[in-house]
Amino acid sequence: MLFTIFGATGDLTTKKLIPALYNLYFEEEMPENFKVINIGRRAYTSEAFVDEIREKMSGDYPRWEAFKKHLLYFQMDFSNSEAYPDFKKFVEDLPGQYRNRIFYLATAPRFFPIIAQALIQCKMIRRDDFREKIVFEKPFGEDLASAKAYNRLLLEAIDESQVFRIDHYLGKEMLQNILMVRFANKIFENIWNSESIESVKIYAMETESVKQRGGYYDHSGALKDMVQNHLFQTLSLVAMEPPGGLNDNLIKDEKVAVLDRVRVSDEVIYGQYAGYQNEKGIAPASTTETFVGLKLYIDTPRWKETPFYLVTGKMMSKKRAGIEITFKDATCFFEKGMPKKNKLFIEIFPREGLVLQFNGKAPGLAAYTMPMKLDYCHLCNVVGNSPEAYEKLISDVVHNDASLFTRWDEIESSWRIIDAMIEKKGLSKPVIYGSESEILSECEKRWKEPVFDEDMD
Ligand code: BG6
Repeated sequence: MLFTIFGATGDLTTKKLIPALYNLYFEEEMPENFKVINIGRRAYTSEAFVDEIREKMSGDYPRWEAFKKHLLYFQMDFSNSEAYPDFKKFVEDLPGQYRNRIFYLATAPRFFPIIAQALIQCKMIRRDDFREKIVFEKPFGEDLASAKAYNRLLLEAIDESQVFRIDHYLGKEMLQNILMVRFANKIFENIWNSESIESVKIYAMETESVKQRGGYYDHSGALKDMVQNHLFQTLSLVAMEPPGGLNDNLIKDEKVAVLDRVRVSDEVIYGQYAGYQNEKGIAPASTTETFVGLKLYIDTPRWKETPFYLVTGKMMSKKRAGIEITFKDATCFFEKGMPKKNKLFIEIFPREGLVLQFNGKAPGLAAYTMPMKLDYCHLCNVVGNSPEAYEKLISDVVHNDASLFTRWDEIESSWRIIDAMIEKKGLSKPVIYGSESEILSECEKRWKEPVFDEDMD
């Protein structure tokens, strides 16, 4: 099998793709006869490239020597279609038969059509040869129009089942867990609606800056980099109606139905971390947002007036991701104590788990209520590590399983919301923040409620 990475000198290769391939190889999920071709524009020998990525990789890779013989580097300008015949020859000249071919596009989205078209033209990927597949990093497209154009170009030449549009959040254990928690438990079935749920918060906070990715990020911003994909995918899993069955397409139909009913409120906060404009690759006076705080509603009978808050930002105080579901107050006749609202926390990162907050009797003679927690730690109870999202998803591509990949209409519906938001936002200046608390207090002012439950810190 050949696994080709376009844009291999980027961060994703070192942080996620190579570590995932390493683990899959030693878990015997990869054929012995497999090569990873790393493609970039810079001049390297394969040896120099491999040594450099190893230096950049954090963590232990005790069997690196055995793994690295599968890694190659090929220098080319992938934006030039004339470079592809040489690449094809390089592949054909490799000793051994590599009929299974996965092309992984880890580049900025503007290169997607150029690369896909060149691969199709030189017949490295052909319709209905299901051993030839193409994987697109997110975001798929830069807006709805470009996404549509890319999709048309692909489907004119190859079959949908050869196309994998990745959203690595879907590979995360706790995202896969949402449907089980919702639909395998009677206790949640009847309360998963506006009657019982007061609000839902979905967040993905990061401590990092844009680092070396300024050139890509400045055209993208948090809306396209995180909200259009990771946060909307999470939202649609939390809010979807029960599917007609455990069938991939029925599930995706319900996810699309949620996105098509999203109504974004006027209470959207855009932020930009102080110093962003001085980062490499950023336009002077850029108004790109590195933080979004978004309040929206889903116009379905189930969700009536429940607000959903989506929050994501760079340069926050702690890296964390999760979902906080707050239930309405109980009709409480206990007069003493400090009952708190019931909450269900679905923790995605750093801990993977579930916490249910409820009220009970405080120990002692008096009848005081006090908040309590039921706490399930996913990794503590399951033997071994849960597979890194990319590991799961790459293994699914190898096995032709597209259930955790986004279907075209999910992408289409997400872009429709984002395009409308971008149009409304125009060139208005984001709030400049020096710290997480500064920007969250802006959200709190607008939303008139705390963004995070302090007890969960
Ligand atoms: C990527 C974004 O898709 O997700 C990055 O492009 C972001 O900007 C990353 O840092 C966050 O992923 P995770 O798994 O670390 O939460």
